[in-house]
Amino acid sequence: MVISGKTEVFAVIGDPIEHTLSPAMHNAAFEHLKLDFVFLAFRVTPDELENAVRGIRALGIRGLNVTMPHKNSVTEFLDEADASVRFLRAANTILNQRGRLRGFNTDGIGAITALKNNGVSLAGQKVLLLGAGGAAKAIAFSLAKEVDELCILNRDAVKARELASALESFGKKIVGKELSPKLVQQELQGSDVLINATSVGMTAYASESLVEPDWLTPELTVMEIVYNPVETRLIRIARGAGAKVINGLEMLLYQGVASFEIWTQCKAPVDVMREAVLKQISASEKH
Ligand code: ATR
Repeated sequence: MVISGKTEVFAVIGDPIEHTLSPAMHNAAFEHLKLDFVFLAFRVTPDELENAVRGIRALGIRGLNVTMPHKNSVTEFLDEADASVRFLRAANTILNQRGRLRGFNTDGIGAITALKNNGVSLAGQKVLLLGAGGAAKAIAFSLAKEVDELCILNRDAVKARELASALESFGKKIVGKELSPKLVQQELQGSDVLINATSVGMTAYASESLVEPDWLTPELTVMEIVYNPVETRLIRIARGAGAKVINGLEMLLYQGVASFEIWTQCKAPVDVMREAVLKQISASEKH
């Protein structure tokens, strides 16, 4: 790839940012489609966020991914926000249209596309969603349009109930309750899809899972949003139970695919992007 005066710049901002997989994913796609674009990562501290957003306009950066801890606060600086950003009060994607910053949130659509492209049809299904944090909210907002029933279980029951009632207007059977082992087991019995959108399973809690092996059946689809490690305890036990398994990289990949398509209006080369992410992960595991 030759960078010239005509190369258009895209970036991800966050803090910390050094472990981001987005540059690998998007640069591979740009290269594959021979687009004269480059994707960089910038560490932006919270007190510099406003300046950074001004910089996007000043430097003509064409598109941005926004990650922790800026997804919420960046919405203050947008000129336009799509329905998901308005509902979630959080954006992970910005398109710069001649200085006008348009915000999107592709986390929910990323999860839905990961399910659909792995052969899961959601119409008429019941989903059990664990968690009611930022990621869970985004997933719930997208799921509410698709499924018949959604049960949200969260450690903090107030958040689960608030999320469920915020989704009432979709007219689906959506409930929010306090997460407990007994309720997870009980709710799993009538569910077609289980999604873990809590942090349980991340490296810090690597040996933990909110689910026990004998609660899972081969008819169930289990989706994990944790991708570090890729193989969480939940993924292992779900596979052992013969369930259909979708790991956290798929959601990461498809939120990137959705962002890519917003920025470029080109169909994203999904397999190229997946391969780039896997390559980056195995390279970082060696270090
Ligand atoms: P993210 O943006 O990744 O969703 P978040 O908004 O901090 O991160 O949400 C983290 C989610 O994981 C929350 O649903 C949180 O539950 P609480 O709202 O009760 O805090 C959940 N979570 C984190 N640690 C957990 C644990 N040990 N057991 C159960 N749920 C946990």
